[in-house]
Amino acid sequence: MRKEVSQKTASEYEYKTTAAGRVNIIGEHVDYCGGKVFPAALSLKNTVYARKNGTDKINVKWTTLDVTVTLDINKLDEYRTLDYGNYIAGSLAAWKRAGYPIVGCDMLQDCTVPFGSGLSSSAAIEVSTIAAMCALTNTPIDNVKIALEAQRAEREYIGVNCGIMDQYASACGKRGCAMLLDCATLRVEYVPIDTGDHTLVIVDCKKPHSLVESKYNERRGETETALEILKPVTGINNLAELDEATLEKHKALLSPTVYKRAKHVVDECLRVSKAADAMKRGDMPALGRLLNESHRSLSELYEVTGKELDALAAAAQSHPACLGSRMTGGGFGGSTVSLVKTDGLDAFKAHVLSEYKKATGYAAEIYQAAIADGITVEEI
Ligand code: GLA
Repeated sequence: MRKEVSQKTASEYEYKTTAAGRVNIIGEHVDYCGGKVFPAALSLKNTVYARKNGTDKINVKWTTLDVTVTLDINKLDEYRTLDYGNYIAGSLAAWKRAGYPIVGCDMLQDCTVPFGSGLSSSAAIEVSTIAAMCALTNTPIDNVKIALEAQRAEREYIGVNCGIMDQYASACGKRGCAMLLDCATLRVEYVPIDTGDHTLVIVDCKKPHSLVESKYNERRGETETALEILKPVTGINNLAELDEATLEKHKALLSPTVYKRAKHVVDECLRVSKAADAMKRGDMPALGRLLNESHRSLSELYEVTGKELDALAAAAQSHPACLGSRMTGGGFGGSTVSLVKTDGLDAFKAHVLSEYKKATGYAAEIYQAAIADGITVEEI
């Protein structure tokens, strides 16, 4: 259970920094292929309360746990297997290696991004921890630099070979906007989320996940295999540059599995552009159809959904108020995002919860979240 942070407790610290969880509207498993993604930062976030303590130790507390973990700032590389604290040690180790100052401090970590929800609690923790260290050391906040070092921590310290989407969204999100982020160049376009009389609804399938990291790394490996084979014959530098005709022309070079993975990447990249256009012109039916197509591709071609996410998306898609629904995030568990007519919202929610329970036995959970800013820093 999470304990609310009282005014009194907060006032014992010097800074309050936050970084966001994220929902990805569309563009799944294409960030590490140099594609464009379309995520948005959420009001579900991680908050770090921090104060310098004049030692070379970092004492970390959580609002959800009764433990204090102490990290030595000269041994940050040594906490890879530490149950609580490895994300914090990892992000600060990466930040230190990048040449930035680290000081001893006390931190209170308060995460409202549900763990395992597929909404990037880990990115929120990594990014807000580095932001807290910046505040304590008077280092100017460079959101993109922080995102890149947080990603490095996730890849090299935690061992998930992730793309840049989560950490970027967590650091650089803007209230009310989705980010059309080109992961090859890190150029971003902020697109106001204007869904008219429709609402984006996030539902967690609540399936306890296992083996997520190894399956994620396996998928990434398959796209790397596709690139290795296709690069010499097509001249592409990343898989997102591939077009449908070229993929079909060279299909015989790829194993059936690697072909399916590449086909998902090519199609999903097209869908992202179409979805951003649909959002800009307020065409919600078109956006909804693209969400459905994305889910089908992640289920049939990329095979990262599983029985629960398929059942949850199907339950959503079968309700008349729903224009489209798809899994969001890495998959193998986690959440869906659905586009729903606002006047049918209550009926939609009741329908999804009961249909999903019937299909899987799990009780799904619906989250209330707004589209919020990425990093925030406040002096207390
Ligand atoms: C996880 C990773 C991201 C991205 C998504 C899938 O959330 O951290 O980099 O690859 O999966 O789109």
